Amino acid sequence: MNKILVTGGCGYIGSHTIVDLVENGFDVICADNNSRSNEAILNGVEKIINKKIKNYKVDLCNYDDTYAIFQENTDIRGIIHFAAYKSVGESVEKPLIYFENNLNSLINILKCAEEFNVPHFVFSSSCTVYGNPDEMIVTEETPQKPAESPYGATKQMGEQIVSETVKSNSVNAILLRYFNPVGAHPSNNIGELPIGKPANLVPAITQTAIGKLPMMQVFGTDYNTKDGSCVRDYIHVCDIAHAHTLALNYLINKKNSTACEVYNLGTGDGYTVLEVINAFEKISGVKLNYQTGPRRSGDVIAIYANNNKAKSHLDWQPQYNLNDMMDTAWKWELKLKDDGNLFKVQKAGLN
Ligand code: WQD
Repeated sequence: MNKILVTGGCGYIGSHTIVDLVENGFDVICADNNSRSNEAILNGVEKIINKKIKNYKVDLCNYDDTYAIFQENTDIRGIIHFAAYKSVGESVEKPLIYFENNLNSLINILKCAEEFNVPHFVFSSSCTVYGNPDEMIVTEETPQKPAESPYGATKQMGEQIVSETVKSNSVNAILLRYFNPVGAHPSNNIGELPIGKPANLVPAITQTAIGKLPMMQVFGTDYNTKDGSCVRDYIHVCDIAHAHTLALNYLINKKNSTACEVYNLGTGDGYTVLEVINAFEKISGVKLNYQTGPRRSGDVIAIYANNNKAKSHLDWQPQYNLNDMMDTAWKWELKLKDDGNLFKVQKAGLN
């Protein structure tokens, strides 16, 4: 059985990916220092897969500690590297901790991949690498504009570090550019545990609907879009997770034609903020307390994926639609309300 190291496996996408990997026959170990996550999420993972996942609570910025994971697991055949800070706003306020954390951990992991001859590497990237693109529908070839935030810059640099490194060693890599991941696992055992006041749309919607937030704002309704609000490509977290399994299998089966390939992960459909709210209200039966507010600085008007490459090369096909995304996100929020322990975990992270 192929052993895969998932870094950041206690995070939102990492935890869903562990489930998908195990369900598809991989043996998984996790490395997460829980600086922005909580190990309790692995209890939910274990409920779904009926199996314990070992977590190494290690700061990947520490090379010796990272090295020790590989020394203990010389049979690691693949790495999926999620571990990173991901708050756009925080990265603008504290850019150095973003560069320090996101880049040092990546470099250490790549050094170990090289040292221990790990053949397969998947890097968690983002549509943020396109910056503010000239085209609304972006392909993997769409020219990258300057990053809109230090967080985005760490993803651009991260991609560059991976693609340059694999040219001179035996590692093969895939860079996965996520659009807007939302929703929760349909079993309702795992989902997103946002820390602090949520900056992203769907947690803002569900937390307002449940009453954790008094109300939410729609940032800008005067854009040149069908209803004036911004357009994004929302993609279910389980579809994103499955793409990682497919990417690993693609590398294992030597289907890649270059040492580093890149794929967009979005549904290819764009929805406005107001359409998302509307879908949520219909699915949940809750009237959302929102008001229209000014534009949020740094927001791109509209961006969605051309996902043909992931469909044809990786054989990936998104399974969940916008209603499923809202439904699973809402059920997870209701569960957080009922599950005292999980709520405590989330509250402990609130600042
Ligand atoms: C979506 C839309 C907001 C909150 C971010 C990162 C990006 C990627 C995905 C990882 C926008 C609007 C939001 C609210 C609102 N992440 N909105 N009221 O900005 O598209 O992308 O997450 O790499 O890098 O930048 O996602 O969910 O913040 O916003 O009206 O309270 O919802 O203006 O139009 P975004 P988002």
